[in-house]
Amino acid sequence: MTKAPTELAEEVREQVKDKKSYLGVISRLNKASVDKHWEAYADIPWDDPELQVDKNDPRWVLPEFDKLGETEWYKSQPPEIRSQIGLWRVATAMKIGLQFENLLKRGLLNYAYRLPNGRPEFRYVYHETTEECHHGMMFQEFVNRTKLPIRGMPRALSLVAQAAPWIPLVSTELFFVFVLGGEDPIDYVQRKSLKGGHIKHPLEEMIMKIHIAEEARHISFARHYLKHRVPNLDRSQKAVLGVAAPIVLGVMARIMLSPPGPMVRHFNIPQDVVREAYRNPDSRAEISNSVGKIRDLMNELGVITPVNKRLWKAFGIWDEPGTRRPLSTDLKAA
Ligand SMILES: [Fe+2]
Ligand SMILES: [Fe+2]
Repeated sequence: MTKAPTELAEEVREQVKDKKSYLGVISRLNKASVDKHWEAYADIPWDDPELQVDKNDPRWVLPEFDKLGETEWYKSQPPEIRSQIGLWRVATAMKIGLQFENLLKRGLLNYAYRLPNGRPEFRYVYHETTEECHHGMMFQEFVNRTKLPIRGMPRALSLVAQAAPWIPLVSTELFFVFVLGGEDPIDYVQRKSLKGGHIKHPLEEMIMKIHIAEEARHISFARHYLKHRVPNLDRSQKAVLGVAAPIVLGVMARIMLSPPGPMVRHFNIPQDVVREAYRNPDSRAEISNSVGKIRDLMNELGVITPVNKRLWKAFGIWDEPGTRRPLSTDLKAA
C-alpha cells in the first residue's frame, strides 16, 4: 500500500454557517477524494503470504472482554472453533456492510440522476459512489477468502431494505439520515476495535484503516448536507423526518450490532449464551451509543420533539444530548 491512511485526516469539521461554507466543504471533500483514495485490487496485496486468511488462525479468537468471548460456553470450545466464530463475525459485519453500501450506492445514484446541471453535490456523490465500489470489492474479497458460508442481512430485512435506494425520491434529507444510520454504527465499531488493539490480523487491519479514512469523508458530507438542508424544511417535512429518523436508525443500529443467525445455528450456540452475550445492558448501551452522533445532530437541528422522543426511547436509542452510556468494560478500565 502506497498511501498510509490517517486517523480522521479528511474530516472537515467546521460548521455550515452559510451556503459559501457549505460549498467550501464540498470542494475540500472533492479534493481529498482525489488526493487520497484506495483501490481494492491495486492497494491491497491480497497474495502477500502475511495477509492470508486461515479460519483456524488464533488471531481471530474473540478477546477476553468481548461479550460472547467471555461466556463460559465460548471459552470451553476447542481453539479452532473459537477462531472460526471470531472470523465469522468479522466476515458477517463486512457482508452486511457491503450489502448496506450497495443500497447506499443505488440511492446516491438515484439522487444524482435528478440533480440539475451545475449542482456541486453531483461530483462529490460520484466520488463517494466510486469509493463505495472499492469497499464492496474489498469486503467481498475478504469474505470469499474466509471460505465460510457467510450470509448478510436476514432475508426479510433484505427485502424491506430494497426500498432504501428510493428514499431520495421522497426525501433526500431522510436518505442521508439512512446513510448515517449505516455508516455511523460501522464507523463506531471499527474505530473502537482499532483503538482497543483488538485487531490482530494485518489484512483486517488494512481493510479497516482504509475504510475508516474514507468513511470520515462520507460521514462528513452527510452531516453537512443535513446541516445545510434541514433548517430550510417546512414544519410538515420536519415532522415526517422526526418520526422516520428514529425508526430508520433504531432498525439499522440493531442490524449492525446483533448476532448473526447463521453463525448461531452453524455452531449450535445455545440460546441462553446468545442472550447473555447480546441482550445485556452493555449491548443495549452499544446500540444507543453507536447512533449518538446522529442523535445529537438531529437534536441540534431541532428535529427531535417531546413527542417523537418517545420513538427514540421505544427503539432503545435515546440518551440526553451529548451523553453516552458507560459500559461495564469502560468502568472496569477507569
Ligand atoms: Fe464504505
Ligand atoms: Fe461510506
